[in-house]
This record gives sequence, structure tokens and C-alpha cells, in this order.
Amino acid sequence: MTVVGKNLAVYRGEDGRAHALDAYCCHNGANLAVGGLVKGSCLECPFHGWQFRGDDGKCMQIPYCEPSASRPSHFALYLAVYCNVVLDLVMMRFSDCIKL
Ligand code: FES
Repeated sequence: MTVVGKNLAVYRGEDGRAHALDAYCCHNGANLAVGGLVKGSCLECPFHGWQFRGDDGKCMQIPYCEPSASRPSHFALYLAVYCNVVLDLVMMRFSDCIKL
């Protein structure tokens, strides 16, 4: 979905909360909105399986790295937008978006 000129991947986590993230993966630019998989509250990239947290776009898992390994801050999506659901409508508030 494109909102105010930004391409976003909008999804519900397994807990039902709505999330909106920059659609393009910070690794090699895959479109997370096309083939991305929901894993918990994260969205998994369809190319190499990196997982990004819905709340802030941070990379939480890389399949071929130790789970406890720290991730540099640039291993994050450029944009995460605060979402709230009202009457089944996803409301996005760009004033509180996280630009990384
Ligand atoms: S392009 Fe997304 S994990 Fe590689």
C-alpha cells in the first residue's frame, strides 16, 4: 500500500495488532508486502528470511546467525508507523512514526 508517497507493508501480527513498516527490506530491497510472512509480531522477508519487528522495524532474527548475536542499528527498516485499529479500520499516525 502507498500512503503519502511511502510504500508500506501493512499486516496484523499473530496477536492481532496492526503494524505498518517500510515495504523495502534493508538487506537487498525485497518488497516485504509481496511474499512476506508474519512470524509473531514480526514480518519475515521473502528473500533471505530476515525478520523485522512490527513496533519499530528493528531486525530481530537472521536465519544464518546466532539468535543471541547483536544486530547493528542499521539492520532495521527505514520506517515504522504507529497503528491503531478502530472499528476494524487501521488508523496510521505518521506524527509518531519511527525513522531509523
Ligand atoms: S532482501 Fe530481505 S533478507 Fe535479504
